[in-house]
Amino acid sequence: MQFNPKILKTSTFRLAAIYLLVFAISVGSILAYVFWNTAGLLERQTDATIRAEVQALADQYRLLGLRGIVDTVQRRSAERGGGVYLIADANGKRVVGNLESVPPQVIDETGWIDFPLDIQIGQNKQRRSARAFHTDLKDNYELIVGRDVQELRQFGDIIRRTLYWALGIALVLGLGGGLLTSRNFLRRVDAITDASRAIMGGNLSSRMPVLGTGDELDKLSRSLNEMLDQIERLMTGMKEVSSNVAHDLKTPLTRLRARVESALRSNSKTEYRAALDKTIEESDRLLQTFNALLSIARAESGQSREMLQAIDAQEIVEGVAELYEPIAEEEGGTLDVKAVAGLNVLADRQLLSQALSNLVDNALKYGVTGENPKPHIEIEGKLEEGNVVILVADKGAGIPAEDRARVLDRFVRLDSSRSKPGNGLGLSLVAGVMKLHGGALLLEDNAPGLRAKLVLPLHQSQS
Ligand SMILES: Nc1ncnc2c1ncn2[C@@H]1O[C@H](COP(=O)(O)OP(=O)(O)OP(=O)(O)O)[C@@H](O)[C@H]1O
Ligand SMILES: [Mg+2]
Repeated sequence: MQFNPKILKTSTFRLAAIYLLVFAISVGSILAYVFWNTAGLLERQTDATIRAEVQALADQYRLLGLRGIVDTVQRRSAERGGGVYLIADANGKRVVGNLESVPPQVIDETGWIDFPLDIQIGQNKQRRSARAFHTDLKDNYELIVGRDVQELRQFGDIIRRTLYWALGIALVLGLGGGLLTSRNFLRRVDAITDASRAIMGGNLSSRMPVLGTGDELDKLSRSLNEMLDQIERLMTGMKEVSSNVAHDLKTPLTRLRARVESALRSNSKTEYRAALDKTIEESDRLLQTFNALLSIARAESGQSREMLQAIDAQEIVEGVAELYEPIAEEEGGTLDVKAVAGLNVLADRQLLSQALSNLVDNALKYGVTGENPKPHIEIEGKLEEGNVVILVADKGAGIPAEDRARVLDRFVRLDSSRSKPGNGLGLSLVAGVMKLHGGALLLEDNAPGLRAKLVLPLHQSQS
């Protein structure tokens, strides 16, 4: 396992470090409290007992003089309770007590001393720890009262050592845990970073790693992946569209160029004129294509959503029908319109008429067959299941079920309709407009013919 200094900079590690600090402080205070209440308490109690004894002996000395306490000290010295006693004279010589001489640690007049105590146990001498209080009595006598605190010190040491270990283990575990979690976190973040680098490098089909743990990083990866799917779809669409655009515009432009070239070569004024007329015509068609593409893009991007107004689609249906009726009749066909009032929708008047016109235009163009050479078109506007529905039906060849999704793409024209003029953009615009309006374009079988259905959400006016 190699240590990576980056770990120290991760937020997980910092968080772990802060927790560790708080944890160490709390563990430390708990342990200090434990110490204070065990070893510390015993030491304090011992000190208190010694002090009380010194006080009592000093009082006794004041009242009864040296004789008065020698007995007591002698008696207590003889007891095997771990008590340490000494009364020494001005020269430091023992008068009474179980301590041989004044320990060299004594420097002040009164105070606490800790000193080693040698004790004879059988044949062996044993060195133990002692703690005593010494005070000067009148007439330069010195009184030392103490206790053998060897066990107490050992107990204190054991407790202290235990506490240090506990703190050490807590710190090591905390630090190790922090490093481990940070390392895992960092590894996953690195994997995500690598994946995004690969994607930026052009590998658009690469995806963020998902471990399936369902944690935050997984959720993040999942939504990033969804976003990437969407971007990839759009990119592919864009690529297709641009290559389609390039392809579809190349033909008319080549044609235009060839015509101008041959006119130039002809040197005749009438040919020049004819070529210019044709050029204008062709340019108009090109402009139309561009406008259609732009309208589709605008509708699909949802840019003009704020422009939507509450309108009654009945007006639009009737307006479009009125525009196309003469054309249908001119071709010897019919165009019937049936629209109820109250087709309230939130719509862009211009785009909705354009969409409907495209459908009627298709019905006129493709709504005829060999046996049925005259277009019979029905337009209907009605309310259906809380939606506004506008139908355009013809009696032509219709669109085979497997092509109904495809024809909505830009520049798609079915082979059967190549003889008719068109760019294959009409239905794309209708679909885009429906997307903008939160509606849908459905293509159904009219048996025979096509029934194109615009479904728009009914707009409940606030009034
Ligand atoms: N009413 C219809 N009946 C039969 N086929 C249709 C009908 N409407 C559309 N289609 C088929 O769907 C294709 C796509 O239609 P769309 O309106 O998008 O393009 P277009 O009519 O060919 O060209 P444009 O509308 O751009 O002038 C058409 O080429 C045709 O093959
Ligand atoms: Mg069309």
